[in-house]
Amino acid sequence: MKTIGIGVLGCGNISDIYLSNLTSFFPYVTVEAVCDLDETKARAQAEKYGIGKVLTLEEMLADESIRIVLNLTTPKSHYPLTKRCLEAGKNVHTEKPLALNYRDAAELCSIAEEKGLLLGCAPDTFFGASWQTAREVIDRGDIGRVISGEAFFLNSGAEDWHPSPAFYYEKGGGPVFDMGPYNLHNLFNLLGPADGLFGMHTKGREERLITSQPLCGTKIPVEVPTHVSGLIHFASGAVISIIESFDAVMTSLPHIELHGTEGSLLLPDPNYFGGDVLLCKKGDTQWKPVSIGHPYGSNQRGAGVCDMAKCLLFGGTPRASGRMAAHAVEVMESLHLSWDEKRFVSLQSTFSQPAPLQGEL
Ligand SMILES: NC(=O)c1ccc[n+]([C@@H]2O[C@H](COP(=O)([O-])OP(=O)(O)OC[C@H]3O[C@@H](n4cnc5c(N)ncnc54)[C@H](O)[C@@H]3O)[C@@H](O)[C@H]2O)c1
Repeated sequence: MKTIGIGVLGCGNISDIYLSNLTSFFPYVTVEAVCDLDETKARAQAEKYGIGKVLTLEEMLADESIRIVLNLTTPKSHYPLTKRCLEAGKNVHTEKPLALNYRDAAELCSIAEEKGLLLGCAPDTFFGASWQTAREVIDRGDIGRVISGEAFFLNSGAEDWHPSPAFYYEKGGGPVFDMGPYNLHNLFNLLGPADGLFGMHTKGREERLITSQPLCGTKIPVEVPTHVSGLIHFASGAVISIIESFDAVMTSLPHIELHGTEGSLLLPDPNYFGGDVLLCKKGDTQWKPVSIGHPYGSNQRGAGVCDMAKCLLFGGTPRASGRMAAHAVEVMESLHLSWDEKRFVSLQSTFSQPAPLQGEL
C-alpha cells in the first residue's frame, strides 16, 4: 500500500499514543522520523517505536520522504513551528490549539491555501464511533432541529497528573484553549459553525502547586483565566451554553447535551472517541442507548493525520481542517474578549462541516 511519510515534531507526553497508532494501527502513513528539542526524548521514542531517523527541525524540513509534519509541541510553539513547516513546503497536522489567537490561526490557513498544502488540527475525537453515530442521529433528523445544548468540561487542573504542567497555566493554556477544542470540534462536527457569543471568566488562584512527579512541590504562576462560561449562537440557530473550568473540585454536569424539536441527545466525554450515546425522543420519559454503528471506539488519536494522508493520496479535504480549527480559536479567543470588553462578539470565520466518515479510513 502506498503511504505518506510523517515527521513527528515533539516527543512528549502525548507522542506515545500517536506513535503507537501511526506505527501500527492506521494505514496510509509511515513515520519516517522524530524530532524534539530534547534529543534524548526523540531517541527514546525512535527506539521504542522502531523509527529510523532522529532529526533536527532543519533536517526534517529538508527530508523529502516527509510529506506531513505532525506538530506535537506545546501550544505556544504551534503557530511559529507550523508556519515554518508550511513555508518549507510541508503539509502540517498540529495538536490543538492551531494558534493562540485568530489572526495567527487565519494566517496559517492562508499560507497553506496559497501554497496548495494541507493544514489540519487536533482534536480528532469526532472521528470516533460515538461522535459519528451522533452525527448520523442528527443528520437523520431523529431529534429534529437542534434548538439548544450544553457543553461542560470542569476539573481541578493538570498539576496533579501531568509531569510538566506549567503550560496549562501560561498564555495559550487555560481550560478553554486546552479542553475547549474537544467540545468545539465535536459541536462543529454535529452542528456546523457558530456566528456569535457572550463569554465571562474568572481565575480561582494566582498560583498552582504541582503535586505530580518529578516537579512535586514547585509553584507555577497562573497567567490565564481558569473558569470560563459562555453562550454560543450557531449559524443553524442553536444556542449552546459552555463551561470550561480548572476550578472545580468535583462535578456532576453532563459532557454534552443537545435538545431538538423532536428529542434530546446525551453525548459522552468529547476527549474520547467512544462512550454511550443516549437518545430520548419526544413522548419518551427515559434515555435509551443508540447502537454504535461506526469504527474507532477507543483512543485512536492520529485518525486526523491518516485522513490527511488519504487526502494527499486520493484527493479531498481533511475533516479535521485548519479552517475548522481556526474557527475554534476565534470562538475561544472571543469567549475571553467578550468579558474583557463586556460585549457580544460576532464571529468572522466559518468552515465547511466535515463529511461524515464512511466506514474505516
Ligand atoms: N498530554 C496529554 O494528555 C494531551 C492530550 C491531548 C492533547 N495534548 C496536546 O499535545 C500537545 C503536547 O502536549 P504534551 O502533553 O505532549 O506536552 P509535553 O510538554 O509533554 O511535550 C511537548 C514536547 O515538545 C517538545 N518541544 C517543544 N518545543 C519544541 C521545538 N521548538 N522543537 C522540537 N520540540 C519541541 C518538548 O521538548 C516536549 O518534549 C499540547 O498542545 C497539548 O495540548 C496533550
